[in-house]
Amino acid sequence: MEKRKARIAVLVSGGGTNLQAILDAQASGIIMSGEVTLVVSDRAGAYALTRAEKAGVRGIEINKKACGGQAAFEEKLAAALEENRTDVIVLAGFLSILSENFTSRYPRRIINIHPSLIPSFCGASYYGLKVHAAALARGVKVTGATVHFVNEIPDGGEIIAQKAVEIQPEDTPEVLQRRVMEQAEWIILPQSVEKVCAEITKV
Ligand code: GRF
Repeated sequence: MEKRKARIAVLVSGGGTNLQAILDAQASGIIMSGEVTLVVSDRAGAYALTRAEKAGVRGIEINKKACGGQAAFEEKLAAALEENRTDVIVLAGFLSILSENFTSRYPRRIINIHPSLIPSFCGASYYGLKVHAAALARGVKVTGATVHFVNEIPDGGEIIAQKAVEIQPEDTPEVLQRRVMEQAEWIILPQSVEKVCAEITKV
């Protein structure tokens, strides 16, 4: 009997290159134990929604301001996830904070990609280019990416996977961000999604 696939919802805010890596991994068979069935953006016009549409995946926008605050935003998000019968939630370039009230509903079911080797350069104020600027400012020779379970502590959950990336002498934050995406994020996120989905659906 064919093993059921875990239903994956991907939460996004921007360009969606990590979403694309997951969609490509599903198409190539790297992700076999799950399928992306919903993409939710917390802001209008995110190119990630275009990527979802091109892949034939349902994409919706849930805007915190329009909802009228954090609690209403989380209620609407939870309702959309419920309707989608979601098994795994992937935060892929997702910039909204999720409260403990929300994350506690999904223990070991929410995973996040962070563009550094946690515990370095992580926590509430570290996201996007700021992470790479901090690594360059500190003068570290190696950085990378981390996939971890999400709990109430920003970037504080159990680590699932990490991959290191060399820093080059002339790196700018933009150049380093691109290298970390290409050589680490887009590799370990799909691998981690498959690992978690396989765990959830094992018979
Ligand atoms: C990247 O810096 C990634 O490390 C972080 O969010 C940013 C944009 O990701 N998770 P994406 O291209 O929207 O997936």
